[in-house]
Amino acid sequence: MTELEKIRRDFAERLGSARSPSELQEVRHDFLGRSRGRLTAFLRSLKTLPEGQRRAAGAGANQLKAELEQALADAEQRAVPAAAAGASGLDITLPGVPARPGAVHPLTQVRRQIEEIFLEMGYTVEDGPEAETDYNNFTALNIPPDHPARDMQDTFYLEGGGLLRTHTSPVQIRTMLSRRPPLKIICPGRAFRRDTPDATHSPVFHQVEGLAVDEGIGLADLKGTLLEMGRRLFGQRVRVRLAPSYFPFVEPGAEFSVSCFLCDGTGCRTCKRSGWIEMGGAGVVHPAVLEEVGYDAERWTGFAFGFGIDRLAMVKFGIDDIRLLFDNDQRFLDQFRGAS
Ligand code: FA5
Repeated sequence: MTELEKIRRDFAERLGSARSPSELQEVRHDFLGRSRGRLTAFLRSLKTLPEGQRRAAGAGANQLKAELEQALADAEQRAVPAAAAGASGLDITLPGVPARPGAVHPLTQVRRQIEEIFLEMGYTVEDGPEAETDYNNFTALNIPPDHPARDMQDTFYLEGGGLLRTHTSPVQIRTMLSRRPPLKIICPGRAFRRDTPDATHSPVFHQVEGLAVDEGIGLADLKGTLLEMGRRLFGQRVRVRLAPSYFPFVEPGAEFSVSCFLCDGTGCRTCKRSGWIEMGGAGVVHPAVLEEVGYDAERWTGFAFGFGIDRLAMVKFGIDDIRLLFDNDQRFLDQFRGAS
């Protein structure tokens, strides 16, 4: 048996009984190590062989070296999982369960976009409580007790006299009572109405309120502001329409709509063939409201608007039932991953 055959046989024997990575390391040292490796020594001795034998012996030794390297690499790979399992039996090399990265809810995406638009126009973002007083939600907004306009919003009353705010407009009152004009604020938040749930109504929904009070501002400023918002939300081609409407706290009052961003106003499914998408209410702040909060209505004027964030998100993302926004069905929400 030649020296190379002996090395091959001894290596196979040693490899067969080596289990742990450290035992394999020992085998590697004994056969391929620079100082004590048997095959390394054989390769070194080649130069002492006569010219004629050197070539064949060299080729055989190099082939064996490749074999040994491969066998060791395979054995080392098999040994790692077994070693990693350790005493606990836990196999840390198994593929992990991938963590689902979180995503921003479509309503939050839209709310943030609106906040960004108004912050850039110099507005501040205000907050107000969801449990309100009758005074802030109705009376101070020019809707005294027994006023028929109270029927426009079916209210959840709380024990002890409070109520769940039916709109975000009471934040107008809170802000004006605590600050002096000029001011420009928006307030996104939840509102509550005893509406029967259907595809476009939810008893809990979201609105954004806007209020600007300054000297000499009016309807044209309102329209310009809504136009800027509409263009930033839906694209530069969008137009804004104000149609006469009634809200006790504004005069004149209006419903505002934006031209449909999908069909450009020609009529499609999203805008129900009308060419317009209804957004919400708006108008010039009623002097009675300004006086109620102690502002001089001869000097200060203002505009206000309010609209539903849920309905806006439905239009923007093509959602046909408002209830989907509140069901927390992961399959639905996954569709809005990185939508904006
Ligand atoms: C108001 O709530 C007024 N406060 C808006 C306003 C503010 C007018 C400032 C003038 C000045 P309205 O009741 O129309 O208006 O509601 C506004 C929007 O809230 C609606 O257009 C709709 O988008 C949304 N909304 C109302 N009720 C529901 C509901 N049950 N579910 C989902 N969205 C709703």
